[in-house]
Parts: sequence; C-alpha cells; structure tokens
Amino acid sequence: MDKLIIKGGKPLKGEVRISGAKNAALPIMTASILSSGKNTIYNIPNLMDVKTMGRLLSNMGAKFDHKDGLVTIDSSSINNFEAPYDLVKTMRASVLVLCPLVARFGRARVSLPGGCAIGARPINLHLMGLEKMGAKIQLESGYVIAKATRLKGASIYFDTITVTGTENLMMAAALAKGTTILENAAREPEVVDLANCLISMGAKIRGAGDSVIEIEGVEKLKPIKNYEIIPDRIETGTFMAIAGITGGDLTLKDCRPEHLDAVVMKLKDTGVVFKETKKGLRVIGPKRLTAKDVKTIPYPGFPTDMQAQFMTMMTIANGTSVIKETVFENRFMHVAELKRMGADISIEGGTATIKGVNKLKGAPVMATDLRASASLVVAALCAEGETVIHRIYHLDRGYEKMDEKLRHVGADIERVTS
Ligand code: EPU
Repeated sequence: MDKLIIKGGKPLKGEVRISGAKNAALPIMTASILSSGKNTIYNIPNLMDVKTMGRLLSNMGAKFDHKDGLVTIDSSSINNFEAPYDLVKTMRASVLVLCPLVARFGRARVSLPGGCAIGARPINLHLMGLEKMGAKIQLESGYVIAKATRLKGASIYFDTITVTGTENLMMAAALAKGTTILENAAREPEVVDLANCLISMGAKIRGAGDSVIEIEGVEKLKPIKNYEIIPDRIETGTFMAIAGITGGDLTLKDCRPEHLDAVVMKLKDTGVVFKETKKGLRVIGPKRLTAKDVKTIPYPGFPTDMQAQFMTMMTIANGTSVIKETVFENRFMHVAELKRMGADISIEGGTATIKGVNKLKGAPVMATDLRASASLVVAALCAEGETVIHRIYHLDRGYEKMDEKLRHVGADIERVTS
C-alpha cells in the first residue's frame, strides 16, 4: 500500500492543470450503456474509480479502453446485466449502471452498495423513481433486481436532493415512453454535464441545472461521439485550499471557476486573492487566513466534498470558525487525524468548532476516505516537519497524479510503496 511523505511549510508556486471531473466521468461512462456502438469520451482522468468503472463495463461485455484521457466503450456487445458485489463495494457510483441497464435491456441485477465511511448513503430514492417508471423491483441476497418491458414517463419528487439519484433517473427517463418530470432534482454541474452528453446522444432534456428537469423519452439513443467532460471542480477547490493555506501562488489551468462560486466567495472572505489571467485562475494565499464559518449544502451551496479541505484551512486561521455538515452524517473522519497534527477542533453532532492555532505539526496520519485524504495532504503541506499519510489509495481514487502535480509547484512530497 502506498504512502505519501510530505515535508511541509513551503509556499507553493506555479501552474497546475486541472483534470477532468471524476463525478462527471463516472455517470457519463455509464450513459454509454444506453446506446449500441462505439462511444468516445475525452478528458477522462486516470483514476482508480475510472478503472473500476471500466472493469464493471467490461464485466458486462462492453469493450473498454482508456488512453491519454480518451475513453472508448463499445457497448454493442453488452450481454451481462449485473454489477457484482466485489465491484460495487469498492465504488458506490457503480449503482449508476442500474437505470441505463433497465432502460435499454429491461433488466438489471445490481449489488446494494451498503454503508460507507461518510454515511449510510441509501439508494431508496433511485429505487422509488425507477418503480414509479414501471419497473418491478425485488431485493434478494443483497442485490437489487429490477425488470421492466419498457419504462414509462413519471412525475418524481425527491425528498432529499440526490446527485447520483437524479443522474440515474435522468438516464432511465431518456429511453422511457412519455415524459418524466424530476422535482427537487440535484443542480450540480456534473448533472448538467451528463444531461448535455445525453442530449448529444439524441435525448430530449430541459431544465438540467434547475431543480425541475423535464425529459421526453425517445426510442433510441446514438453512441456518445467525442464528448469532452468538464474539469473537476473539487480538484480545483482543493488546489485553491493548498494555495491559501501555504501562502502560495498557484495558477489553475483548464478550470471552470463559475462551478465553484460558493467556494471562491468563501475563500475570498478568508483572505485568499483570486485573479483571472490569460493562463488560468491565479490563487494567492494571504500571510494568515481569517476564520470564517461555513455550512455544506447541495449545489449551488458550499460542497460537502470541500468541507474537509476548508476545515484544514481553518485549523491555522486567525480566530474561531464553525463548520456545519448537513449532507452526510459522518463526514468528520479527518478531525481525529488533524488533531494529531495539533489542530484544536471539537465536534457536536454535525457541527465542528475550530479554534485556529499558530501552526500544525507533521505526524503519521491515516486517510479514511477520499476528501479526508485530500484534507490531510492540505494539512501536511503547511505543517512544520514531516507528515506520513498512510492508505492513500483513497486519494488515488479521485485525484489524478496529485503528488506529481504538487512536486511540480515546489512541494517536498514523496510516494513510497510499502
Ligand atoms: N440519499 C438518500 N437516499 C437516496 C440517495 C441519497 O437518503 O436514495 C441521501 C444521502 O444519504 C445523503 C444525501 O442524500 O445524505 C446526498 O447524497 P447524494 O445521493 O447526493 O450523494 P451521491 O450521489 O451518492 C455524489 C458524489 C459524492 C458527493 C455527493 C454530494 C458521485 C459519484 N458522488 O454522491 O462525491 O459527496 O454526491 O455532493 O457523484 C466524492 O467525490 O468524494 C463524493 C463522495
């Protein structure tokens, strides 16, 4: 298992290219199931989760290839409609094959994801919507078995805003008979990216990016042709946090700052300076950050996927900040590790109170989930001395060449395979 050794305390300076968005890549790859033929998708990052999705699609009979950011998926040979436990347990986004399989082939057998480190994360809303569209659903030995002759359009209201739930049902509705209305839908840029990709395949979708999405089902969709996915807004935000906390000066290339308005506004309040330049977005960290409160909420609110990195910034800010996590019930796993590095944080329910200290100190720490791992990298880069981050496979699931990118802007970072 690889670990990272980071000697912190250096302001990082230079240019960083932002990779394609993991959470756009995964649903768009599953959209290939909706058509029969050769799909081509650009700007797909080289990540563990993308590899896992490739294995899942190959296991179904599709021909998958990934080279230099280009993914090709030949979906004409799909003949197995199952997502097995072994793959789903390593990546919850595997559940995104459920609706495309039922929409095109009339059946699917998909392992229930089960809980994960950050919360229970049920998929009841995905199933509720699919059932409303006429699918018969059974739960058997930990698997969801869904069947339908042809899905029908339906009006579906989400009690809780769900990103992959919205994406799954949008894909189901694209091939259903009649019109589907999704109310209280997720508005994340990744949902819009999937909708744009589906539209390029011939789907009729209106309103993606708003909370009501209308989808008029069509008989058939064309394969995806040369669709380029959006840049990763969470990777962008993570590098903003790194520039902010190290007092650095990073220029983020190929990013879309408009997908991160809430993060940019919040970081400006803490003293981080942003400048649009020809090369990209320049992010300049202050001498010392100012403490600010934040509450995570679905898009366009402050993303839960940036909460851990923002909290790390607040550990050395001037003053006390309060962070409320409202999306997932257990997303403070990084707190115990940050405390081992000298942070002063107390938690009560979904609220963390962070009293800024003068500095963090290097320590051996352990990553527990993807964004928690990212927050430990952010912490290590500003900490005095050496930090060893264990179990970085979590980081490799969602950040492309993080260590290489950091080394390129002056970080003292080493990957050790043990
Ligand atoms: N929820 C339900 N029932 C459902 C679905 C969701 O109660 O059927 C609840 C969840 O338990 C949670 C809330 O709704 O409390 C929101 O969950 P959501 O379904 O939106 O999360 P997700 O679709 O499983 C995606 C991202 C996550 C990101 C969340 C929230 C992908 C592949 N994953 O997950 O990304 O945190 O939306 O923005 O798009 C990450 O990249 O590190 C990551 C965890």
